[in-house]
Amino acid sequence: MIDYDKKKSVLITCARGNVPYLTQEIEQLGYAVESSHETGIEMFASLRDTEKLNLCLRTAFNVLYLLKKFACRSPNELYREVKSIDWENIISPEEYLSIVTSANTKNVKNSVFASQKTKDAVVDRITEKCGSRPDSGPDRDNIVINLYWKDDRCWIYFNTSGKKLADRSYRKLPHKAPMQETLAAAVLSASGYDGSMSFINPMCGSGTLAIEAALIASRRAPGLLRSNFGIMHLKNFDKESWYATRKEVALNTRKQLPSRIIASDIDKKAIIAAKKNAQTAGVDHLIEFHVCDFSETPLPHEKGIIIMNPEYGMRLGEEKKLGEIYKRIGDFFKQKCPGFTGYIFTGNKELSKQVGLKTSLRLIFFNAKIECRLLEYKIYEGSKDDK
Ligand SMILES: C[S@@+](CC[C@H](N)C(=O)[O-])C[C@H]1O[C@@H](n2cnc3c(N)ncnc32)[C@H](O)[C@@H]1O
Repeated sequence: MIDYDKKKSVLITCARGNVPYLTQEIEQLGYAVESSHETGIEMFASLRDTEKLNLCLRTAFNVLYLLKKFACRSPNELYREVKSIDWENIISPEEYLSIVTSANTKNVKNSVFASQKTKDAVVDRITEKCGSRPDSGPDRDNIVINLYWKDDRCWIYFNTSGKKLADRSYRKLPHKAPMQETLAAAVLSASGYDGSMSFINPMCGSGTLAIEAALIASRRAPGLLRSNFGIMHLKNFDKESWYATRKEVALNTRKQLPSRIIASDIDKKAIIAAKKNAQTAGVDHLIEFHVCDFSETPLPHEKGIIIMNPEYGMRLGEEKKLGEIYKRIGDFFKQKCPGFTGYIFTGNKELSKQVGLKTSLRLIFFNAKIECRLLEYKIYEGSKDDK
């Protein structure tokens, strides 16, 4: 059995660009980050710690608990090493198993073959010890094992998340070009949003930014929205511990927000989708929705943060027409939003020049493979020199 309280190396993965926000979240939970990479961080944690990490982290993809690391120069060596792990104590023969491989080595012809060898080693060991074996395939709803093979070294992890934590299960209606939930959480963190100031999200689309803001403001852990995690499929899954952690985490939730969250879109269908998604996330009562042009979005007296994610011409819309929209966003900020901090999240550098205001900060993010920027505009009362 995996000892629930044994601290081991844990790899927490995330999207490129999200590491600083993930690090901040982990530190706020009271853990220390040992090292960071382009797409994740390493730390020491027990399986019991991974319960909280899975439930609370907003910007992470997967929480991976190290089972074994070893030198490895061939697929046969991989098979031998993987088979030496006591899988019969980790996975029940009734379970379903999926292997996720990332191979950057000359020692294997492709990652599919490495996955196959790993799967064979696991099921052969369980068959020998238990007389039957788990099913296997691509479905990540059950046991997920991650293999990293870099040059002559391998790492085998038990994936305590299972499916990516980005999949919060509230977005039933995606509408157009939706932002990934973990990216929205990272963008909010980069803007300094902590729920204490008002948050305005014109062009809200399916509502991801507003919903993530409502989750942050209500201190609701995103993992509470999900009922299935990889750790729940462990042979010695500690049900009592898991539900106690869920309960403890849920105690932080607050029902009333100190500030308003306003989301709008010109498309009625977007607002229908956003409302439905917010309802699924249990935060629809915390967001005020409006169907209107972005420039007509009602703004509260108390100042705060405005984030807009206009189309940027790669997947939707045309660059020329969009140029006019970006120019109008600049005018909206300048004329109607003094005292607020405005942000534009875009993957199109040329279009962002049309805004015509000076940025106070530019941060790089990745929306899948597209390099994007979060542009910050401090909008001062009566400022004339921001052109
Ligand atoms: C890229 S999508 C936003 C996606 C959103 N971040 C999400 O996660 O679903 C851009 C949105 O801007 C809206 N839009 C386009 N022109 C607009 C305008 N003039 N005023 C308000 N909304 C507009 C579109 O209807 C679309 O929903």
